[in-house]
Amino acid sequence: MKKVLVTGGLGFIGSHTSVELVNKGYQIIIVDNLSNSKIEVHDKLEQITSKQITFHDIDLTDREAVARIFHENEIESIIHFAAFKAVGESVDKPLDYYRNNIDSLINLLEMCDSHNINKFVFSSSCTVYGQPDKLPVTESFPKMQAESPYGNTKQICEEIIEDFSKSKKRFKAISLRYFNPAGAHESGLIGELPLGVPNNLVPFITQTGAGLRDKLNVFGGDYNTHDGTCIRDFIHVVDLAIAHISALEYAEKMEENYDFFNLGTGKGYSVIEVVKSFEKVSGLSLNYQIVGRRSGDIEQIYADTSKAKERLGWVAELDLDSMMESAWRWQKNLQ
Ligand code: WQD
Repeated sequence: MKKVLVTGGLGFIGSHTSVELVNKGYQIIIVDNLSNSKIEVHDKLEQITSKQITFHDIDLTDREAVARIFHENEIESIIHFAAFKAVGESVDKPLDYYRNNIDSLINLLEMCDSHNINKFVFSSSCTVYGQPDKLPVTESFPKMQAESPYGNTKQICEEIIEDFSKSKKRFKAISLRYFNPAGAHESGLIGELPLGVPNNLVPFITQTGAGLRDKLNVFGGDYNTHDGTCIRDFIHVVDLAIAHISALEYAEKMEENYDFFNLGTGKGYSVIEVVKSFEKVSGLSLNYQIVGRRSGDIEQIYADTSKAKERLGWVAELDLDSMMESAWRWQKNLQ
């Protein structure tokens, strides 16, 4: 049976997508170098799906190791999550980010070429838009100057994939531009696993709720928004996972060789609204303080999701409370 290669499949979005793929009857192979994930996630995936899932601890910058995977397995399509993704870290270690994120992609595309693999789904990000001039953001908006080496690797990788797809007749590639993933699988067995102090808002909130952090610093209360705090389009990670299957199925029939889609809910929530949602679902009063702005943050962004609805037949279904309720369940299970 032909298989779907899921790179970074033990990571936050990769693991949730692996669950949805297996539940939908796909046979998958997960490769992950565990640089930003834990081997225990593999057992959890088998527990959730009640299926054995093939996993290889592979660094995608190792061409020989990558070649072996493709030589030993009949891979039909690839969903590529594996990448370094910490914005702040990318500023400190740009060469690590360019080497890892771009070499990995090129190694995979070379395998697509030599093994005639014609379906490729890429994990991209709304950071390619920078701070848009107007909202909501549609896919026709220009890509802005990246705010970080991490964001730049996403832009460069999209361009590499587009150029490669144009050089092949049958190769079909889709970039999925995530807005802000949040939440966790309903089982509470998998979720966001930030290593060290979380950069992202939602895990910092749940860790504060769990008493692991003293308080949440809200970065900026003087933005030009309804409550002065930043606005983001938070999307449930399970909705995001399901979108990858819709994209894989769309790649079967798409006319173009390359396309890209916003994956958001189309609704923006402020930082304070996220805090209030957490307080509502947890029954806790969160200790937070509004402090100075975080450099590199944009004021507000949320998606126009009509293209994914029309072409992929996909719409996000889970709301903010569901994200916070599942994230909190996951945090409590981690204790
Ligand atoms: C959201 C809002 C912060 C932490 C990043 C990446 C993006 C994507 C999603 C990968 C901002 C505020 C945060 C805190 C806070 N990742 N905040 N206190 O920066 O929108 O996007 O994650 O694809 O590429 O850039 O997400 O969760 O860090 O911040 O007030 O302790 O929450 O200022 O306004 P961001 P975030």
